[in-house]
Amino acid sequence: MAERLGTTEFFKYNRVMKKFPENFYWGAATASYQVEGGIENTDWAKAGRDGRVPLAGRSSDHYNRYEEDFDIAKSLGHNAHRFSVEWARIEPEEGVFDEEAIEHYRKVLDSLNSRELKPYITLWHFTLPLWFSESGGFERKDSPEIFARYCTYVVERLSDLCSNFSTMNEPNVFGSNGWLRGSWPPFKRFSLTDMVSITNSGRTFESKANNGLGGVFLYFRVMKNLAKAHNVAFDSIKQLSSNVKIGVVKHVIYFNANWNPINKIIAFVANHYWTHIFMRRVYKKCDEIGLNYYFHKKFGDKEVYEKTDMNWDIYPEGIYWALKMLNRYKKPIFISEAGLADKADKYRADYIKRQVESTWRALQDGVDVRGHMYWSLLDNYEWALGYEKRFGLVEINYDTLERKIRPSAYVYKKICESNGLDN
Ligand code: BGC
Repeated sequence: MAERLGTTEFFKYNRVMKKFPENFYWGAATASYQVEGGIENTDWAKAGRDGRVPLAGRSSDHYNRYEEDFDIAKSLGHNAHRFSVEWARIEPEEGVFDEEAIEHYRKVLDSLNSRELKPYITLWHFTLPLWFSESGGFERKDSPEIFARYCTYVVERLSDLCSNFSTMNEPNVFGSNGWLRGSWPPFKRFSLTDMVSITNSGRTFESKANNGLGGVFLYFRVMKNLAKAHNVAFDSIKQLSSNVKIGVVKHVIYFNANWNPINKIIAFVANHYWTHIFMRRVYKKCDEIGLNYYFHKKFGDKEVYEKTDMNWDIYPEGIYWALKMLNRYKKPIFISEAGLADKADKYRADYIKRQVESTWRALQDGVDVRGHMYWSLLDNYEWALGYEKRFGLVEINYDTLERKIRPSAYVYKKICESNGLDN
């Protein structure tokens, strides 16, 4: 006979089981340019043709194989999926919207909904339509309005099939890789010289530097325009589709420090710079926030960590602190990306368990976490690093396009199906 649990036992049981709230969303994420294949009219595709970054090519051909991929996600116990739509497909020329592209994403949404995989859409994940990047992209004064027009159009056309949208993915990563480090389009490294030499995956090329007096401010102008773009898009979407939830996806690095007060000040400034400047500009126009967590940096730390294939410290526990950092904005949070590159699948299962456990701890502390999307469902195009790095729960053979589920995906499946960790 089933034992009736009193409240104390119930909470004890919940603590041992590390149960998540009912209706918690478990899934994985992808981004259009990294998996779809066949996208040629973006700044990244041009950079590929110019030999500055690896070509994305047909990628994992997710554009044609999404049904098969969602069958896999479903079989792995997922009940949600985050993906992005490709701006350059939808608006291939300025102000001209392609109905066929919209129809494609409507089919993708039907396919998710029919499998009861709740869709989370990212409206823009790094790649820009060529017409926009070549006319200045987010350096343009009118970029917020251009972006808002695109976002509003897409939400209007898809909101009957999807209720959660993020306007943009990781604005700080986009800005700093494009205008400070210069390793991503438009390759403007901050420098005192006129030209800089950039090396990406063994390709070396000369690029016009982000320099001079104007150069100092260019990165900040782009960051400001991105925040404004989100805010203008939010207002414009809400006028037409008031029922949808709109947010941003924010990359958070958890900076902390050892005992040393100087290190503590550095960590405080770094968190402010990387996370809070942008969040303060946009949080009032967010119904929810997506958190992407990959790494931490502890100033003065002597500890040696094992490394992922990206050479990032294995420290999934940092997600607890990243969640706490975003908690100050008092919005529901969903983990929109967290995961690791691990071709041999040596660390992934343990990493996921520790990441989930740390998320559970944040929930116990009152952080309103609604979902957890592992990055990534599939192996994919890792930007300037090409196809070497393997983040997928599912391995892709790029010659045959065969999909093979990695063992760690079954560990995650157990977590998803039991809505928590049982140890
Ligand atoms: C990005 C993904 C990327 C992942 C791993 C995130 O910064 O949103 O596009 O593949 O990190 O580097």
